[in-house]
Amino acid sequence: MTNRDSRLSNLLHETRQFSPSESFRENANVRDESIYESARQDPEGYWSEQAQNLSWFAPYENVLKWQSPHAEWFSGGKLNAAYNCVDRHRQGPRKNKAAIIWEGEPGDSRVYTYDMLGREVDRAAHMLQDLGVRRGDRVTIYLPMIPELPISLLACAKIGAIHSVVFGGFSSKALRQRIVDADAKVLITADAGWRRGALIALKANADEAVVDTPTETVVVVRRVGAQAGVSMQAGRDVYWHELLVKTPGAPFPAAEMDAEDILFLLYTSGTTGNPKGIVHTTGGYLTVANTSMRTVFDMKDDDIFFCTADIGWVTGHTYIVYGPLSAGATVVMYEGSPDFPGRDRFWDMVEKYGVTILYTAPTSIRTFMKWGAQYPQMHDLRTLRLLGTVGEPINPEAWMWYHEHIGHGRCPIVDTWWQTETGAAIIAPLPGLTVAKPGSATRPVPGIDADVVDEHGQSVAPGHGGYLVIRKPWPSMLRTIWGDDERFRRTYFGQFEGMYVAGDGAHKDADGYVWILGRIDDVINVSGHRIGTMEVESALVSHRAVAEAAVIGRSHDIKGQAITAFVTVKEGIETGDALIAELKQHVTDSIGAMARPEEIIFTAELPKTRSAKIMRRLLRDIAEGRVLGDTTTLADPSVVEALKTQYKESE
Ligand code: PRX
Repeated sequence: MTNRDSRLSNLLHETRQFSPSESFRENANVRDESIYESARQDPEGYWSEQAQNLSWFAPYENVLKWQSPHAEWFSGGKLNAAYNCVDRHRQGPRKNKAAIIWEGEPGDSRVYTYDMLGREVDRAAHMLQDLGVRRGDRVTIYLPMIPELPISLLACAKIGAIHSVVFGGFSSKALRQRIVDADAKVLITADAGWRRGALIALKANADEAVVDTPTETVVVVRRVGAQAGVSMQAGRDVYWHELLVKTPGAPFPAAEMDAEDILFLLYTSGTTGNPKGIVHTTGGYLTVANTSMRTVFDMKDDDIFFCTADIGWVTGHTYIVYGPLSAGATVVMYEGSPDFPGRDRFWDMVEKYGVTILYTAPTSIRTFMKWGAQYPQMHDLRTLRLLGTVGEPINPEAWMWYHEHIGHGRCPIVDTWWQTETGAAIIAPLPGLTVAKPGSATRPVPGIDADVVDEHGQSVAPGHGGYLVIRKPWPSMLRTIWGDDERFRRTYFGQFEGMYVAGDGAHKDADGYVWILGRIDDVINVSGHRIGTMEVESALVSHRAVAEAAVIGRSHDIKGQAITAFVTVKEGIETGDALIAELKQHVTDSIGAMARPEEIIFTAELPKTRSAKIMRRLLRDIAEGRVLGDTTTLADPSVVEALKTQYKESE
C-alpha cells in the first residue's frame, strides 16, 4: 500500500458532511447553484464576465485563443496589475482603507492604507526605473515577509517588469540558479530577516549568489540594521532607503500591459532536473485571483483577510498580494514564526486585528493540534467567519480540529486545491453553497473543467480514482516554462492530448466530489512545500563522499511527508553520525532547510530493476515499514533484505 492508498482507505470511511449555516448562506456572495451550470455551458462568457471586475485601459478583442497547449486570454486588452491592486482603490472610497496590516516578528507593526501603499509602490517603481529596469526585464526578489516585499512586486508590475520571487529559506546556490535562469539584472534583498528571534543572513546568501551572474545591482532593504553586520559592495550594492529619498515622489504612470504580457515567474520543483520557472501573464492570472476572492473566499469590503503563507510561494503571491489587493481587501501579513514568542501568536493576531477570514496549511493545523487547544482558547476568535486550507491533502482529523477549535463550529472551511501552475484556487467549495466533507476539496469552481481520468484519459466512474486533469484552458493557467517550452508541453500536456495533467492522484466519489490523494510523480510535499526527489539526489551526489543516492517521501504526522535518503558512499569512506550530519547540512546549503532529509540511511547498494532503475516504491515500503510488494523485477533481491535490516537498525 502506498501513501495514497492509505489516505484513500481512510477517506472512504469519511461520511461526515457540513452545510453552511443559514445566516452564512443568506449573506454569501454566491447563493445560486446555477452559477456552475451557466459557467459550464459558456466558460468563456463566464470568465469574460469576471474579467469585467478588473479595470482595463483598453478592452480585449478575444476572450480565448487556444492552440493546445498554448492559451491566450483577453489578448489585445490592456491593463496593469499594480493599477488594479492599488491605484484604482485610491481613487474611490477605499483610499484611506487599510490595504496591508503588517506585523513583524519582534512585535513592530505598520499599516498601509491604499493611498500610502500607492505612494510607496510609485517610489519603488521610480527607484527601479532609475536603476535601469524596463518593461519585460526580470527582477529577482529575495526578501523576508516585510512590506517591501509586496511593494517590490507591485513596483515591478507597475513598470511592466517581470518579478521572480525566491523564498527567503532557499540557499545561496538555489537563489543563484534562479537568478541565472531568469537572467535578472536586479536583485532586491534585505540585510537579514527575523525567524524565532534569530537572524537569517539574506544579504550574505545574496552576496554568494550573485557572483558571475547577470545581476548588476543589489538593492538592500535595512530590516535589522547594525546587528546584521552586512558588507556593502561599492558599485553593486545600494540601500533601498537611500535610493528612495532620491526618487521624485511623483506618481509613476502605470505601464499599459497586454493581458498576455508576463506578470511574474515563480520557480517550482518538478520530477526531473532544475526547478521550472512557471510563467504567469497579467490579465488571466489577475482575473481568476480576483474572482476567487469573491466566490471561494466570499470576500466583503469589511473583511480582514489573513493568509499565513510566505510570499515566496504561490499562495502568498495570489492570496496576500494579487487576489486580496485587486479586490480592495485588508490583508494581514506576518513576518515570523507561529510559535514566537508564544504558541498563541496567530490567535493573538486574529484577536488583535479582528481577522474574519483565515487561510493556512494543513501542516500548521496539525502542529496547532499537537500544541493543544489551550493556545487558541487564550484568545477571542469570534470575528472569524470563514477558514481556508491549502498546500496538501488535509486529513479529516485536522479538518475537524480546525472546525471545532478555531471555527467553533460556525465557520465554513474551504479546502482549496491548486498549484503554482494553476495560479489560483480552482477546486474548492463555494462556502455559501457547498456541503463540505472533511478531507475533500469538493468540486471544481465555476468555469473550471477538472476531472479524474484513467490511464486512457477517460473520465472515471464515481467511486474510482485516477489522474487529476483539467480538460479546458482557464485564464490563470501557466503559459509556459520560462526558457523551456518543450518541457512545458511534455510535463503538462504530454500524457493526454489537449488535457492538462496536474501530477496529482485523485478519487471521485458518488457526489462527484474530488478527493486529492497526493503527487503521483517524484515530487515530495513536505509541509506543503514541493521538493523534487531529483533535486535532493543531485545535492547529495555533489558531496565528495556520495556515490549514489535515492530520495523518497514517507508519511509524516505533522509534515504530511518527510524526506528519507538512501545513500551509498564511495570506496573507503567511513559512514556514521558525523557524515549524516554533514550530508544533511550539505543539502541545506545546496537547496535550503526545507529540503534537509529527515533521515539518511547508508546502504551498500540500492535496489534496482534489471534495467538499472532505482525501485523507489520498494524504498518507500521499507521506510514506512510495510510488507514489501512485488520484487520480481529486482536485479538482486538480497539488496532489499539488507536494506530492511539496516533501516530497522537505524531507527
Ligand atoms: O499535490 C498538490 C498539493 O500541492 C501541490 C501544488 O504545490 P504548489 O505548486 O507548491 O502550490 C501549493 C499551494 C497552492 C498540488 O499538486 N495541494 C495543494 N493544495 C491542495 C493539495 N493537495 C490536496 N489538497 C489541497 N487543498
